[in-house]
Amino acid sequence: MAYIVWKDSFNIGVKEMDEQHRLFVGYVNELYDAIQSGNAEAIVTPILDKLTDYIQLHFAAEENIMKSINYPMLETQKAQHVYFVSELTFLKSSFLDKSQTAHNMFLFLKDWFIHHITTEDLKYAQIINKIDTESAEFD
Ligand SMILES: [Fe+2]
Repeated sequence: MAYIVWKDSFNIGVKEMDEQHRLFVGYVNELYDAIQSGNAEAIVTPILDKLTDYIQLHFAAEENIMKSINYPMLETQKAQHVYFVSELTFLKSSFLDKSQTAHNMFLFLKDWFIHHITTEDLKYAQIINKIDTESAEFD
């Protein structure tokens, strides 16, 4: 297990979203530090709360961008976002009743998020980037 190291291939090319994705990854890495420090229990719950608050703000911002371009797969994205938020809530409660390790939480958050941004988010980004290129041609 290791930190999530940000790679260029994680960037979708929509600046504001890339910044938010990176910030979220930073919070997931904070969770990793908490696990490594050995006193994970005391600090994992506040980190999960912060992750949950932040991801909701991020998903709302992202959905607004998708709406603004009439993104055809908005509903698919929304469903995935709802799933992730409910999964975070579930992880938190299962961690509290000790049926979930901090290690497994880290792996889930890392894998889900990186997979989501490099597949689903990339699709709307490609549309936005195409629009940007086209409008730039008329400048
Ligand atoms: Fe998304």
